[in-house]
Amino acid sequence: MRQLALSLGERSYNIYIESGLLSNSALITRYCIGESVLILSNDVVAPLYLEKLKSSLKDKNVFHLTIPDGESFKSLESYTKVLDFLIKNSFRRNDTLIALGGGVIGDLGGFVAASYQRGMGFIQCPTTLLAQVDSSVGGKTAVNHPLGKNMIGAFYQPLAVFIDMQTLDTLPEKEYFSGFAEIVKYAMLGAAEIKQLFETKLSAIQQRDPEVVAELIYYSCAKKAEVVSADEREAGSRALLNLGHTFGHAIERLTNYQHYLHGEAISIGIMMAMNLSKEYGDINNETYAFYHRLLLALNLPVIVDKPIAVSDMMSTMKLDKKNLNSKYRFVLPKDDHCFITELQASELIEQSIAKQIG
Ligand code: NAD
Ligand code: GLY
Repeated sequence: MRQLALSLGERSYNIYIESGLLSNSALITRYCIGESVLILSNDVVAPLYLEKLKSSLKDKNVFHLTIPDGESFKSLESYTKVLDFLIKNSFRRNDTLIALGGGVIGDLGGFVAASYQRGMGFIQCPTTLLAQVDSSVGGKTAVNHPLGKNMIGAFYQPLAVFIDMQTLDTLPEKEYFSGFAEIVKYAMLGAAEIKQLFETKLSAIQQRDPEVVAELIYYSCAKKAEVVSADEREAGSRALLNLGHTFGHAIERLTNYQHYLHGEAISIGIMMAMNLSKEYGDINNETYAFYHRLLLALNLPVIVDKPIAVSDMMSTMKLDKKNLNSKYRFVLPKDDHCFITELQASELIEQSIAKQIG
């Protein structure tokens, strides 16, 4: 079993990575505080993995609640539904909520756990590649508001993260590759082991070789843990994790969150960030070409295939909650790391966007 720690003083926790981990009763039970456990899942994941997890918790008073699948259920309505369930079943602060699912369930479950009786035990069991390498680690939790994504939330760290890579076996191809945009991001942030795996094991990755994927998940979590433990609440350097996201979020928004999966929009956003970096002369041609080829090899889009106007991208990016003052905030890649910069609107930014619009 692979294991690593996210160091945050008394909020430190372990991340475990292993195929079949959901059946590791002794380990999972050890982290469940209290008598009662609520497993929160959705109607796609529950039929696949709920029974497995339930049978690992035989010594506990186990409840489960399933919400419908989809980003639209990462909502205040779902949040209220889970709270109602906890109250009606007399859950206490020192009981545990386990999120079993992708980023939607993890973000929703985390926010419920953060706020129920001012904070109950919380465990992440992520089942998508995106959730395994990104959303289950680092303690960002949220639900959406009709006027904006992730508008209501909290920083709330789990007690542990259990990554069972066997759950990836049922993940559709498109969802699988979408998770790779975040893994590419960690390579660009300086995770040399990930870059090396992309250089040497690309065809195994394309064929979903579990050993190589486990290594990628491990090094991704390690990079995320390093960044989060240095800046838990994003006062500064954690914003590096937003590489490609200023552009990507605008693409998602302008296509009504219907056309691209999150990772797909981030892939195009990474290209736009590389364009901007190239204009400044910071990224060399070889690095640019390597990541361009890599994104394509991972079945990720690099060009927007919808009629989006550059001016709409600029005005949408202006609304990004990570901007400071009147400037745009970007994470730009150099050759083996990234840096954060704030820029006024300019033709350079517009050209960096236009280059990736088909
Ligand atoms: P998701 O949770 O919607 O899962 C994607 C799809 O895969 C869903 O249809 C889901 O039912 C299905 N699924 C999940 N596991 C499966 C499995 N093992 N087999 C078959 N199908 C499975 O989406 P996601 O991409 O995991 O997460 C996206 C969400 O994560 C967004 O809401 C985003 O805002 C959030 N997010 C949060 C953070 C964070 O730091 N908290 C970071 C990145 C993204
Ligand atoms: N996904 C970005 C972060 O966790 O900060």
